[in-house]
Amino acid sequence: MHTPSAINIILIGPMGAGKTSIGRQLARRLQRPFLDSDKVLEERTGVDIRTIFHYEGEQGFRIRESAIIDELTRKQGIVLATGGGAVLGEQNRQWLSTRGTVVYLRVNIEIQLARTAQDHKRPLLQTKDRRSKLEALEEQRSPLYQEIADIVLDTDKHSISVIVNSLIRQLGLAPR
Ligand code: S3P
Repeated sequence: MHTPSAINIILIGPMGAGKTSIGRQLARRLQRPFLDSDKVLEERTGVDIRTIFHYEGEQGFRIRESAIIDELTRKQGIVLATGGGAVLGEQNRQWLSTRGTVVYLRVNIEIQLARTAQDHKRPLLQTKDRRSKLEALEEQRSPLYQEIADIVLDTDKHSISVIVNSLIRQLGLAPR
C-alpha cells in the first residue's frame, strides 16, 4: 500500500487498544499533526467525557462525537485516534472509510482489562463486571471495525515502537 501524504491515517478499535499512544508516536515519526477525537471534544465543550455522559447520556455523547468525526476527517494528512464507539453510526463509518486509511488496532480481553484496570474516566467501564462489558462491546463492534479496516494490527504482543514501525511499513510511508 502506498499512502500519499495528504491521506489521513485513522485509528479505530476498542478501549485499551492503544489508539492514542500509537497514534501520537506514529504522528511524531511521520511529522504529521495528531488529533484525538475525544480530546478535541473535551477541549470544545470544556468538560470531560464523563460529564457529557452524565448530563446528556450516551446518546448525547454520540451526537457530539459524530460532529467531531465529520469535522476532523475533513482535514488532510493527519493521524486521527477515535473513541472505541466511533464506528457505531453508519454515517461515521462512511466518513471514516472514505476520508482516510483506516487502521483497526486489535487487543485481547486480558490486556484490555489490565490496561483499563485503574480507569475512572470511561463511563462504559464504570461497572462491576468489566470483562462481560468488554466482551459484549467486542461482539457488537468487531464486525463494524472489520467492515471499514484497510489494515488490521494486533497490539498485544509488541511494544508501541515495533507496532509503529510495522504500520509505517504497511502504509508504504517512509518517515521523513
Ligand atoms: C468509548 C470509548 C472511549 C470514549 C467514550 C466511549 C466507547 O474512547 O470515546 O468513553 O464507546 O468505547 P477510547 O476508546 O479512546 O477509550
